Amino acid sequence: MMGKKLDFYVLKIGGIVALTILIAIGTGLYLYLYPKEFIEVGYAPQQPIAYSHKLHAGDLQISCFYCHGNAEKLPSATIPPTQVCMNCHSIVKRGSPEVQKIVESYEKNKPIKWVRVHKLPDFVHFKHNVHVKAGISCFDCHGKIYEMEVVRQEKPLSMGWCLDCHRKETPLTQSPRVEDFFEKATKDELFYQKFKDNTKKYKGIHWVEEQERIGCSLNCSACHY
Ligand code: HEC
Ligand code: HEC
Ligand code: HEC
Ligand code: HEC
Ligand code: HEC
Repeated sequence: MMGKKLDFYVLKIGGIVALTILIAIGTGLYLYLYPKEFIEVGYAPQQPIAYSHKLHAGDLQISCFYCHGNAEKLPSATIPPTQVCMNCHSIVKRGSPEVQKIVESYEKNKPIKWVRVHKLPDFVHFKHNVHVKAGISCFDCHGKIYEMEVVRQEKPLSMGWCLDCHRKETPLTQSPRVEDFFEKATKDELFYQKFKDNTKKYKGIHWVEEQERIGCSLNCSACHY
């Protein structure tokens, strides 16, 4: 009789403990696997190398297109390969431990594992080239990247955010001139002033010929297909 009762309590307590552990593991796994793309505004993961946009794009005034030139040609803006860093760092600051990581990546032919910051769910399609050619500034969608030591997500990238702008139907004009491009590309007086006298540096940028505007769409199938 006593033994049975004891067994019963052991089972009951054991059950509660097991359940608590299961819930804890479940919650942990959920938080661990929860897709990063839904951690929205403010997301600023630590990167494997202390690369600073404030230093390179802000102080040194290297054009965004030097490293993200694909943004005007392809759907994806892409992160530059190590080779682009080596254009300078094969010499510049070679002794620095951070720069050593670049040299090592280059010599061992192992890409640097940059952590993705902005990420839409797979069922949404976004094209940089369409937006950049329409004259929308990087900073409208990414904030003042050239002031950031570490890249931080500034906009929600939610459906409502996309549609808010698409509803505006902003009359954007095309211009073949690099200067005008930068004015539009930055829409930031200080940043533009810095670049204005320096347009020769951006020989690599070809402003696209007049192109046909596709138009902003509210159609579900424009973004989901
Ligand atoms: C010298 C090369 C270089 C220049 C110039 C540069 N970037 Fe980057 N950019 C990188 C690298 C490397 C990363 C990945 C590491 C990081 O996120 O900091 C990156 C990341 C980014 C990201 C985040 C990508 C993601 O994972 O979501 C954005 C947005 C971005 N850059 C925009 C810009 C803009 C806008 C400019 C111009 C003001 C610019 N970059 C200039 C090299 C560059
Ligand atoms: C209309 C808004 C918008 C504009 C303008 C824009 N971006 Fe983006 N960018 C996004 C979104 C949205 C994502 C996430 C895309 C995804 O996950 O498919 C992104 C992702 C990125 C990434 C990382 C992923 C990739 O595409 O390789 C980089 C780098 C980047 N942007 C750089 C730039 C630069 C540089 C400019 C200006 C030349 C720019 N972006 C202009 C909205 C924008
Ligand atoms: C156009 C030339 C140029 C390019 C391209 C370039 N950098 Fe730099 N980088 C510099 C200069 C100049 C400095 C500042 C050196 C100093 O402090 O005197 C610097 C500094 C750095 C530092 C800080 C080093 C330290 O210890 O102070 C890091 C890290 C760095 N760069 C990473 C990168 C990465 C990663 C890339 C490629 C995505 C890259 N750089 C591309 C010119 C460049
Ligand atoms: C700041 C304004 C702005 C934001 C934010 C914006 N777009 Fe756009 N989008 C435009 C403009 C302007 C065009 C039209 C380009 C043209 O006419 O060439 C466009 C065009 C498009 C097109 C092509 C049009 C079509 O019907 O095929 C798609 C797809 C698109 N955007 C998706 C997105 C997605 C997804 C987001 C959010 C992640 C987004 N856009 C955020 C301004 C914006
Ligand atoms: C301009 C681009 C764009 C258009 C047009 C658009 N969507 Fe979306 N949609 C997005 C983006 C970006 C997301 C992901 C971000 C989010 O969940 O808010 C999304 C997410 C969704 C989701 C998932 C919502 C969730 O909470 O996970 C559904 C369902 C959806 N869209 C349906 C639609 C329908 C139906 C239409 C047409 C009436 C439509 N979308 C038109 C950009 C767009």
